Amino acid sequence: FARGDAAGLHIAITAGPTREPLDPVRYISNHSSGKMGFALAQAAERRGARVTLIAGPVNLPTPAGVERVDVGSAQEMAQAAERAADSADIFIGAAAVADFRPDQAAEHKIKKEAGVDNASIALVKNPDIIAGISARKDRRPYTVGFAAETRDVARYAQDKLQRKNLDMIVANDVGRADIGFDSDSNQVLVIDRQQTRELPLALKSELAGQLLDLILQNKKQK
Ligand code: PMT
Repeated sequence: FARGDAAGLHIAITAGPTREPLDPVRYISNHSSGKMGFALAQAAERRGARVTLIAGPVNLPTPAGVERVDVGSAQEMAQAAERAADSADIFIGAAAVADFRPDQAAEHKIKKEAGVDNASIALVKNPDIIAGISARKDRRPYTVGFAAETRDVARYAQDKLQRKNLDMIVANDVGRADIGFDSDSNQVLVIDRQQTRELPLALKSELAGQLLDLILQNKKQK
């Protein structure tokens, strides 16, 4: 990697899943392990950046030199991300944020009721963290999103790039077992305002370096 080429930059990265509580013992979540976001944080720190890593509940060690902020729910992640974005030059949303949360988190454990065989949960929309950051007029960092798709990867990712007003989107097919969620490797499409690039299957640690190359290059040209 190019040692020192991110010196002087503050890079904020979200990683991992969020947990949306139903009651004190249960939650809604997803399969994100945090590996992709943590790999980016480690690569950015090694290249000289000041790194803030906003992490949902994951089982990963904090990369050396990285400032880690642990969060649970999407609302907590949104707060921490907004705070970090105030001073960030680059914001990367690698987290798998829950789009919805239970409308009410019960104060006590929800009990089974005799004779009741069906139940439903009312959900409300969570804030879109990255869309909020990219909509800033002031202090808007160069904003990179990820897109987790199971079909029509390029089309849906392109749509998210536009809709969320991102500078770049990194799309992966999370329907495949060998890449995406929890695996050590990933294969992505990188779409920016100019072009679409297909990166070959690689370890998330290697891919992180390639993504940073593209991000730093694009940011310089802006
Ligand atoms: O953590 P790993 O196991 O290594 O897996 C990596 C990964 C598959 C989680 C990662 O590569 C990835 O694709 N992350 C984005 C997952 C996701 O939630 O994608 P999305 O298409 O739903 O969201 C698009 C973008 O909006 C993402 O940058 C997401 O962080 C952001 N978002 C989504 C919803 C929301 N309420 N707020 C957001 O900021």
